[in-house]
Formats: sequence, structure tokens, C-alpha cells
Amino acid sequence: MMKIPNLLLMVISNNTTLFFIILTIFISIILKKWNTSVRNYNKPFPPGPKSWPIIGCLPQIFLKNKHALINRIHRIMEEMNTEIACIRVGNYHVIPVTSPELACEFLKSQDSVFSSRPICMSANLISNNYIASVFLPIGDQWMKMRRILASHVLSPTTFQWLSCKRDEEADNLLRFVYNNQCISINLRKVTRCYCGNVIRNMIFSKKSSFGSTIEEEEQVDALFTLLEYLHSFGVSDYLPWLSVFDLDGHKAIIKKAYAKATKYIDIEVDKRIQIWKDGNKTLEEDILDVLIMLKDTNGNPLMNVKEIKAQVLELMLASVDNPSNAVEWTLAEMLNQPKLMQKAIEELNTVVGINRWVQESDLSRLNYVKACIKEAFRLHPFMAFNVPHVSVSDTIVGEKYFIPKWSIVILSRLGLGRNSRVWEEPLKFKPERHLKMEDDGEVVLTDSNLRLLSFSIGRRGCPAVKLGSTITTMLLARLLQGFTWDLPSNSPCNDLIESSKINHFSTLPLLAQAKPRLANAMYI
Ligand code: HEM
Repeated sequence: MMKIPNLLLMVISNNTTLFFIILTIFISIILKKWNTSVRNYNKPFPPGPKSWPIIGCLPQIFLKNKHALINRIHRIMEEMNTEIACIRVGNYHVIPVTSPELACEFLKSQDSVFSSRPICMSANLISNNYIASVFLPIGDQWMKMRRILASHVLSPTTFQWLSCKRDEEADNLLRFVYNNQCISINLRKVTRCYCGNVIRNMIFSKKSSFGSTIEEEEQVDALFTLLEYLHSFGVSDYLPWLSVFDLDGHKAIIKKAYAKATKYIDIEVDKRIQIWKDGNKTLEEDILDVLIMLKDTNGNPLMNVKEIKAQVLELMLASVDNPSNAVEWTLAEMLNQPKLMQKAIEELNTVVGINRWVQESDLSRLNYVKACIKEAFRLHPFMAFNVPHVSVSDTIVGEKYFIPKWSIVILSRLGLGRNSRVWEEPLKFKPERHLKMEDDGEVVLTDSNLRLLSFSIGRRGCPAVKLGSTITTMLLARLLQGFTWDLPSNSPCNDLIESSKINHFSTLPLLAQAKPRLANAMYI
């Protein structure tokens, strides 16, 4: 007997009229379903551009390049004068949000409705079929991994236990910059490398060689490629049936970067498991040991090898982007406004002095330094949108808009942080604005009211606020305490800031020259 799809194909190729009849019926069913849900709740969808049946807004929106697309979504919202929109793509309703009040409704009062994640090509490839935490739709596997992270990997005890590894990398950073003081330093490379080094040392106990091995550099580059293509509006993410054609080439790029990023992880994990099996290790020394040695209630390993590898990749991905981006932008802004740099240095002189290096125990008192980082999170987030959330049931938000089940909610980090209703002079880098907002005087990098989205909130909020804040603040504090920074003599302007005026994301790396600030003996 002939299989039905083959039969259908034959009929379609032989009879175009029949094909259009089937298509029309299909469209009518979809439109009916769409209208019924709206009528059920008696509320409209959030405003949005007109869309075609089946493909939605794909031609108007998704066939442009990614950077243009991000601008386009924000422009549509501005033109429609709305802080929430609904853009239909394929079968999905994509809901961008720039209002802090609505963002809080999504992640606070309706957190349980919006705490799942989309199933999409990029996340599926990167998470090895959804076995680690960040990309997992809500369910038992997510709960298991989130518990492991909260109780064993990112707990306050583990944070304290691994502080010596972070200290090693903070010292390595100083040495690297000191040894390169005569040349222009690529601060994008340095900041990314530092974040990769810190998390690599915490996971594998590998002291870094600070970018001097090809392996380390290749891995960090691969991590950033994965981050760039993750949830990056790839056509196959929204129209999964087009995935085999890989129309925009995202799939091939992700696969190549994934292979590079995991090569080193796979070797290290396999090696370490063998060491434990052979009885050549008795003491847990890092995160990898913790993951391997976790046991369930029956004394069996809690995580299998695939889960360990996938989780390690995710921890590395989660650690490198936000801290490095915030520090690069802060330094770029400081080079354009030297008074800000001076103020941060004065704070470091007062709190830490000039005879010892800043330590993690000092960070709570470096409020101006933290205010600068918070301002970078607000004005220059690494990604324009938060990791997407998916609704698990139909609901109403803002008392007026219907959001159907399986909608993809993308809170705009850019739109929240630059919302002119909320922020005075939103495009100006003014760290002072964060100093007066804190109740007990200590600046924290989170914002529970989502006027800016740094670590997010709710059950999918970042479980590593302490670690993420520490990596970021220590990186900036050491770079400022150790060195005076200047633009290279042949660079008339700060490219990072200049190009941000045109296209926020296609910025050139920040190049700067470092001069040691403290006595030479401190660096050796
Ligand atoms: C400055 C540093 C960091 C920032 C700004 C940051 C921010 C975020 C944001 C915005 C999310 C998504 C929240 C949402 O979906 O609403 C997230 C999720 C996550 N972050 Fe972070 N993060 C940072 C550092 C880290 C580090 C160092 C780790 C671990 C080593 C980490 C682990 C995670 C994990 C596992 C999730 C997924 C949570 C889930 O889906 O259940 N983050 N982070």
C-alpha cells in the first residue's frame, strides 16, 4: 500500500487546484481556532503588525538580518505606541514587552503560567536535546537540574569553597594586563577570556594561561558563537518543518561551534569519571567532582554522563556573556567620560587602598563601581531580549490582552532599560541614578521591579546572582585598581560608543592602553 504522504505529494504535484483547496481548508481551520480562542476570553491580542495565514509576519519581519530584526521589533512597538505587542510567526504568537509593570506581571503574578521555554532548533542542539537547565521546558527534568544547581553548584557553601579559584584568575588577569602594557589591549578579548577562565577553573580546576593556548581561545569564541545564534530568530526556530533546509544557515553554524565548545569538555569529563572509577581520587575539588559524585536516594549517580556534559556547557555559556559585556561597555563609557573613571578609582582608593589588591570581601562596599556595572546592564545589555518564556495556558495580562497558550514572551532588556517613561535621559550613561535608589545604601545588580533586566526574577530567574555579580564586579574593580586606561594614540574616538549610535550590536571591540597605577612590586 502507498504511504499517505507520498500519495498526497503525487496528488499535489498533479493537481494544483486540489492543493489550493486543501490549503484553503487548512487556513480556515487555523483562523477559526484563532478566532475562537479570542472570543472565548473576549479580549483582543496585544497590538501587532498584520500577518499572513500560516506564515504570519515571517516575510515582513523574519527574513531581515538579525540586528535589523531587533530594531524592527522595537520600531513596530514605537510606531504603534505600545509597550506590549503580538507578532505572529508561523504557529507562534511572539510577545515582546518593554513595560516593567507588564514584565512583572509575566514573571511575578503569572510566573507559573509563563515559566516554560520554547522548543526550538537552536536550544535543542545546544542543550543536547534538552537535558540541562536553561533551555528546558518546565517539568521534572528542569526541576531536577535546577535543584542540583541551587543546592550543590551555586549554593553559598560552594561559592565560598571555590573562592580560591576565582582569586587565582583575578591575579592572572592583572599579570596578563601588566605584561601587555606597551600595546593596545583588546578589552573584549580580555574580559571574555577572564570570564571563561574563572568558570573553567571552578569547574575543572584548570588554571588559565590567559588566552595563550589556542584551545582556550577557540572554546571561548565557540561559546560566543553559540550565544549569538541561540534564540536568534532563526527561521527554523519558528517554522520547525523548514529545519531540514537550514535556510538561514544557523543550524550548520551552531553544529560547528557546538563541536568546538564541547571538544574540551567531553575529554575532561570522561577523564575525570575514569579517575574516580579507578579510585585515584578521594577528595572533591571542583564543580565537576561535585556533579560526578552526586547520588540519588538509592546511592546511584544522580546525573548521567550526558547530563553532566550538557550542564557543564550551560554553566560555561551562562558565565561568559553578561559579565564581559558589562565591563567592556563600562570601560568604554568611562573612556568617554573620564570623570566617571576617576570617581570609581577614588572609591577603590578609599575602600581598598593602594597597598593590597581588591578582594571579594571588599565588593559589598564598592557601591559606585557596582552602580557603573548596573548602568551598563541597563543601557547596554548583552542580548536585546531575555531568554524566551513560554505560556503553558491561555491567560489575560494587563487586564486587557489575551495571551494564548504556547505564546513566546520575550521581555526586551533593551526596551525596559531604555524606557523613557521610567528613566530620565535614558540614553545617557549615568551610574549615579542607581546610588539613590537603594534602600540600605548597598548597590545590588538586580532589579526586582524589572525597570532593567539583569538577572531577571521568578522561577526561571538566574540562580547565580551572587556568582555573576562577583565575577563582574571583581573584573572591573581589578582593571580599574590596577591600571589607568587610555584610548590608543592612533584612535581618535571610542568605536564602541560611536557605532552603537547606528547599530547597537555590531560594535567593534574596545581597544585601550593600560598604565600600571600601583607600585611595580604589586604586580609580580
Ligand atoms: C552577570 C552575570 C549574569 C547575568 C546578568 C545573568 C542573567 C541571567 C538571565 C537574564 C537569565 C534568564 C532569566 C529568565 O529566563 O527570566 C539567566 C538564567 C540562568 N543563569 Fe544567569 N546570569 C549571570 C551569570 C550566571 C552564571 C555565572 C551562571 C552559572 C554559572 C548562571 C546560570 C544561569 C542558569 C542555570 C540560568 C537558567 C535558569 C532557568 O532557566 O531555570 N548565570 N541568567
